[in-house]
Amino acid sequence: MKQTNFVSPEELTIQDGFTSRVLRMNAAYTAQSGENRRAYVDCYGCQQNEADAEILHGLLRRMGYQDAENEHDADVVLINTCAIREHAEARVLGNIGALSHDKRRRPDMIIGVCGCMPQQPHMSEKLKKSFPYVDLVFGTHAVYKLPELLYTALTEKKRVFSTENSDGRIAEGLPVVRREREKAWVSIMYGCNNFCTYCVVPYVRGRERSRDPERVLDEVRGLVSNGYRDITLLGQNVNSYGNDRENGMRFPELLRRIDAIDGDYVIRFMTSHPKDATPELIDVIASSRHCAHGIHLPVQSGSDRILKLMNRRYTVGKYLELIDYARAHIPDLVITSDIIVGFPGETEEDFQETLDLIEYVRYDSLFTFLYSPRVGTPAASMEDPATLEEKQARFNRLLEAQNRISRQIHEGYIGKTLRLRLDDLKPCPGYALSARTDGGRLVHVDAPESLRRTVADVFIERASTYALFGKVTESGT
Ligand code: 5AD
Ligand code: SF4
Repeated sequence: MKQTNFVSPEELTIQDGFTSRVLRMNAAYTAQSGENRRAYVDCYGCQQNEADAEILHGLLRRMGYQDAENEHDADVVLINTCAIREHAEARVLGNIGALSHDKRRRPDMIIGVCGCMPQQPHMSEKLKKSFPYVDLVFGTHAVYKLPELLYTALTEKKRVFSTENSDGRIAEGLPVVRREREKAWVSIMYGCNNFCTYCVVPYVRGRERSRDPERVLDEVRGLVSNGYRDITLLGQNVNSYGNDRENGMRFPELLRRIDAIDGDYVIRFMTSHPKDATPELIDVIASSRHCAHGIHLPVQSGSDRILKLMNRRYTVGKYLELIDYARAHIPDLVITSDIIVGFPGETEEDFQETLDLIEYVRYDSLFTFLYSPRVGTPAASMEDPATLEEKQARFNRLLEAQNRISRQIHEGYIGKTLRLRLDDLKPCPGYALSARTDGGRLVHVDAPESLRRTVADVFIERASTYALFGKVTESGT
């Protein structure tokens, strides 16, 4: 078994050197002009990407950049990209295109494109050829090198590319600017070894590598003592945490140790691959003090034939066994899932099995995706006779069925009182605050803003497909 690879302290010290140089350049600019250099990080995609963006933000602040309001107001713009589906890539390319006007107006600005998209060779080539005003292009493996890359772009006035393929390493101790005051992401592992045949992630994020459990525990302790109340552990497949380490601690044990940390907080995790989720994991959630009663368990399809073609390595039967176990042990467990519609070769019968599955499980909510072929993945060269219209029609049927199920589940809450922490300001007319149930369900709450960050009894008055609506009956702590 291979030991996890870390970015060495020496390499990080080299980056600190570049940080100091950029910091000095920015200080000199401020002394001369009376203005501060500003940076903006734009982020697309999953929570892993958000977590990377928080690090990029941290590195930029360390180099003396103040936060810009938006990309048009920034001296450095970094676009942290997503490659999971074509739609995500198209959006990003459109936004990079729009930045050409800013670059013409302010040729000194630095435009950087990073994350999953440029980690694919054909995309990095496209950025090189079709977007000549992009100064800096780097992949997911080069986040820690931002100081060096930016310094080079600033001083050598040439385009900088760092998109080498790599199994990936772990860089510890990088600065993080967390976007929210009470919610935090904690990456416990990076990369993916599963190679689902439709998915680009293993190609752009490298092999699975787990952080040292003590590091994770220290980070969570630090967050809890700094007032973070909602902590989400991140990994492409948290259930294979520790598999890459000699005698490594496994996920259920890590969760147990985190749960033992005293404090007023909720712990969540994502994502769980069903092939590695075990009854032991469910037991840990059931007996924990801090774990949210929610689990995201992407099934992708209800057809064994399609699951095999997807290389998911579980059957519908095995999946449902776990769901039944979970429901038996945690009756109020909120279960959510991802489903891909229109995988190559999916027939009407396969799709019907997916509908049957969702009627059986009755997910609280579902993330549904139309299959999108990704360059270099095995599924992209599979026979795919169904037309886009057929796929779209299936997609709509799935959505309709799930909307009905979600609405019915939500209607079951009407007339109940939930004890909730009123955290967010989510725009919804008539409801100043919002909250999440333990399982992550959105609740719009009619309450004065002064009750933000307090715990209150909320009486649920109505429900929709996506959320519950209630009013505060009694505020507490
Ligand atoms: N096409 C459509 N959906 C995809 N996903 C991953 N790759 C693709 C693809 N090529 C979906 C899966 C995964 C979620 C994050 O995105 O459902 O669980
Ligand atoms: Fe992609 Fe499958 Fe890995 Fe998830 S488990 S990131 S779907 S390859």
